[in-house]
This record gives sequence, C-alpha cells and structure tokens, in this order.
Amino acid sequence: MSLPTEPPFTARPDIASIRSEALGCTKCRLAEGRTQVVWADGNLDAELLFIGEAPGFHEDKQGLPFVGAAGQLLDRLLGEIDLDRTKAAIVNVIKCRPPGNRDPLPDEIESCKPYLEAQLAHMRPKVIVTLGNFATQFVLDERVGISRARGRPYQRRGATVVPTFHPAAALRGGRFGGANPIDAIRADFQEVKRLLEASKPAAAEAEPQGEQLGLF
Ligand code: URA
Repeated sequence: MSLPTEPPFTARPDIASIRSEALGCTKCRLAEGRTQVVWADGNLDAELLFIGEAPGFHEDKQGLPFVGAAGQLLDRLLGEIDLDRTKAAIVNVIKCRPPGNRDPLPDEIESCKPYLEAQLAHMRPKVIVTLGNFATQFVLDERVGISRARGRPYQRRGATVVPTFHPAAALRGGRFGGANPIDAIRADFQEVKRLLEASKPAAAEAEPQGEQLGLF
C-alpha cells in the first residue's frame, strides 16, 4: 500500500482564527451545557491525526481531548508504537460535550463540521486514525460500522485512513464483530506505524552524505 502524493487541498485555512471562532461557538444546543470547547491536543502540524467522537466529562473540564480513562489508554497504545502527543494531533468530530455523554446528534455533527474540516485542511495529514463509528463515518463519508470498516486502510482527502475501535470500547471489554477491541486497536496501530515509516524518505535521499557530494 502506498501513501497518496496528490495534495487534496488548495489553500490552508487561517487555523488560529477558526480556533478563536470555535472557542466562542454557539451554533448548536451543546454550547449551553458545556464548560468549554475542546479544540485539539497534540501537534496540529504533525502527519498523523487521531479523530475521536466528542468530549466527555474530563475533557469538558480540562478543555483537552482524551484526558479521561479512554485517553489514558490511547496514550499507552501510542507509546507502544513509539508515539506521543508531540507527534500527532488529537481532535474530536464534535468539540462540545453532549449532556450525559450521549451520542452526538446529526445536526450537532453538521454544525461542528466546518471546524474538523478546517483542522483537516490545515494539517493535510498523511495518516488519519478514526476512533469508533462517528469519526469513521465522518471521514469515509459512508454509513459503515467500525467492525466492518476496520482491518483495511482507505484513501480519503489525500490521506490513508485507518479506522479502528474507540478506546472506550476496549475499556468496556467484550467482543465486537468477533474482534477483541484492544487486540484490534493494537493491530491497527502497527499498521499506522508501518504507514508512517513507509512515508519517510529514505535517509540517503533525504540527506546526501559527504561522499555523494564529493567532499571526501
Ligand atoms: N472520547 C472521545 O471520543 N473523545 C474524547 O475527547 C474523550 C473521550
């Protein structure tokens, strides 16, 4: 499998001003109950983007995505492939906590869509990992469940998309579509690691050695 080379976006948005707009957003009912908007964590200039569903209790309090139990598991799984939040961005499909952590509603996803679209257009990530059903359906633009979608990469928006289970599914335990979520996430993260390594230019090409320059 190869990474796409065609840049899909023509202009990068002014992400700082879009962030400011998002932080004061009142486009949907979720603005009433939130403590704060949860914009992103990690490195929005990285090649790797993780997309979750929506902030939960701890994220709403701290203003950062994936800081509760699911986030701690995500950090651990990232560590297993030698990654951390400095090497990837982490965002959600919707930026405000739904009351009682209910699923996001279609009109909430629609209202919030320009923010995630702007994050995607700013980053132009090489690899997008969609965590769970909502992120997977948003990025693939298909009504497909995560059990059926995962296990193979997709090409969308100039990126390779790796759908996987949401870490919260792994915390709940059980099996989904015959798969143990934690094993499935680990296997999918190995694919992410492989894709990132494959996307790096070979060392010799990236940095010509003195010998090749005729210096020795
Ligand atoms: N679950 C998510 O999908 N996002 C978060 O930020 C936290 C938990």
